Amino acid sequence: MELGHVAKFLQGKTILVTGATGFLAKVFIEEILRHQPNVNKLYLLMRAPDEKAATQRLNVEVISTKLFRVLRENWGSGFDPFISSKLIAVAGDTSSENLGIKDSILREEMWKEIDIIVNVAATTNFSERYDVALGINTFGAFNLLNFGKKCDKIKLFLHVSTAYVCGEQTGMIFEKSFYMSDTLRKTNNLNILDEKTLVEEKLDKLRHQCISDEAITTTMRELGLKRAKLNGWPNTYVFTKAMGEMLLGNFKGDIPLVIIRPTIISSTYKHPFPGWIESIRTMDTIIVKYGMGALTTFLASPSSTCDVTPVDMVVNAMIVAMEAHYANHQYSCETIYHVSSSFRNPMKYSDLVKFMHCYFTKNPCTDRNGQRVKVNKLKVFDKADRFFLYMQLKYVLPLKVLYFMNILSCHLFNNVYTKLDRKVKSIIRLAKFYKPYVFFAGIFDDTNLDTLQRFAEERGVDVAEFNFDSKSIDWEDYFMNTHISGLLKHGVRS
Ligand SMILES: NC(=O)c1ccc[n+]([C@@H]2O[C@H](COP(=O)([O-])OP(=O)(O)OC[C@H]3O[C@@H](n4cnc5c(N)ncnc54)[C@H](OP(=O)(O)O)[C@@H]3O)[C@@H](O)[C@H]2O)c1
Repeated sequence: MELGHVAKFLQGKTILVTGATGFLAKVFIEEILRHQPNVNKLYLLMRAPDEKAATQRLNVEVISTKLFRVLRENWGSGFDPFISSKLIAVAGDTSSENLGIKDSILREEMWKEIDIIVNVAATTNFSERYDVALGINTFGAFNLLNFGKKCDKIKLFLHVSTAYVCGEQTGMIFEKSFYMSDTLRKTNNLNILDEKTLVEEKLDKLRHQCISDEAITTTMRELGLKRAKLNGWPNTYVFTKAMGEMLLGNFKGDIPLVIIRPTIISSTYKHPFPGWIESIRTMDTIIVKYGMGALTTFLASPSSTCDVTPVDMVVNAMIVAMEAHYANHQYSCETIYHVSSSFRNPMKYSDLVKFMHCYFTKNPCTDRNGQRVKVNKLKVFDKADRFFLYMQLKYVLPLKVLYFMNILSCHLFNNVYTKLDRKVKSIIRLAKFYKPYVFFAGIFDDTNLDTLQRFAEERGVDVAEFNFDSKSIDWEDYFMNTHISGLLKHGVRS
C-alpha cells in the first residue's frame, strides 16, 4: 500500500517532545505512532529524578491510558517491544539549562539525531506562582530553543502556546507575532529579563525573612497576577505564555518556528476514538458541576463565543504544519496558527447551556445515594450585581423571612446562610477564574490555518484523515454524543 504524504514525511524522523505526561502531548504521540510506526524515535522529556523514574512515568501515565487502546489492539503482543523501540523517556526539566538532562552521552546523542522539537510542556495553572510560571512557560521555551540550536539536523521548532495570549482583546484577533517588549497596555514597556530579576530578588527577600513555604507561594502567586495585570494580561498563565512566544520569536535565529495557538481544547472528535479526554478543565468544570446538580446559576456572557477545538484536531493541525514547514525549512520564518472555531463555526455559551440541559435531561447523573439528579436549565447572568441580587431574592430573602417568622432558629439560619454565602462566593470565584473564557468577546481569525489546509490539500495530504477544519463539526452532535459522555467516562475518572 502506498504511504500517505504525512506518513512518508514522518518516516525516519526523530522528534523531541515535551509535556508527554499531559493531555495534548499524549494524543500527539499516539497519533504519530499510529500513522507512522517507522518514525525513528520520539524522545520524551519528563520531570523525573532519573531515566528509570521517567520510564516508569511513561509506562504508567502515558502508555497505560485508554488512549493507547487502539494502538495496543493493532499491535497485539508486539505492542510493548514496539513502544520501547520508539519512545525514549528522558529525565529532565525544561526550566533548567540543557533541560536538566544529566547524562552527557544521551545529550550528545540527542543533539546528533533530533530533526524536530515539539514543545507542549507548560504549567496551565492560571494562578501559578510567578517564579514557576516564568521558569516553565517563558524560560522553559527559551531553554528548549537553546537546546535545539545545538542539534545538528534540526529543521523545525514547533511550540504550543494558547490563543488567549491575546488577553481580553475584542473584535477580530489576528495570527500576529509578539515583539520583545510588547505589552497589552500601551503605557508600559515589558522587559523579560527585568521580570526574571524581579522574581529572583523577591524570592531571595522572602527566603531571608524565614517565612513559611505557604506564605512564599501566596506572595509569588500574587506577584504573578500583579505583573500580568500591570501589563494587560488577565492572569499569570497567559502572561508567561506570551513572554515565551516573545523569546522564541526574538532568539530563534535561523530555526523555522511554528507557534500553534489553540483555544479551549476538548475531547477527541474522532481519533483514535471519539470522546477521550484527560481530567476536567475550563468549561468542563461547569458541565460536570451542572450535571451533578452543584451548579444551577452561573456568571457568563451567553452571547460570547465558546471557542472549543477537539484535541485530535489540534494534533492534526500540529502534524500537518510540521510537514509543511519541514518541507520549506530553508525559510527560517515564524508562523502562527490559531487553532480555533470562533470565526468559521462559532458556538455560543447559550448553545453550550442548551446542550448541557438536553444531555443531562436525557442522561441524568446519579448522586451519592443512587438518586437521579434532576437538572433545570442553567440560569446565566452576564452581570455580577444581577447575579447577586437574584441569589439574595431567591435564597437569602426567604431564609430571612422564615427566621423573622420564628420558623427557623438562629442556629439553623446562621448555618444555612453561611453555606449559601460560601456557594455564592464560590460561583463568583469560578466565574472570575474563567472570565477570560466565559466573557471573551474576541473572534480568532485563522487565515494562516485555512491557508495551511488548502496548501496541504494541493500537495496530496489526506485532509479527511488529518482533519482540522472546524466547519466540519456539528456542535450539537459533538456535545450530545461525544464530548459530555467522554468527559464523564474518561475525564471525571482519570
Ligand atoms: N488544555 C487546553 O485547553 C489548552 C488550551 C490552549 C493551549 N494549551 C496549551 O497546550 C499545551 C498542553 O496543554 P495540556 O492541557 O496538555 O497541559 P497539561 O495536561 O497540564 O500538561 C502539561 C505537561 O507539561 C509538563 N511540564 C510542566 N512543567 C514542566 C517542566 N518544567 N519540564 C518538563 N515538563 C513539564 C507536565 O509534566 P508533569 O506531569 O511533570 O507536571 C505535563 O506533562 C500547553 O502548552 C498549554 O499551554 C492547552
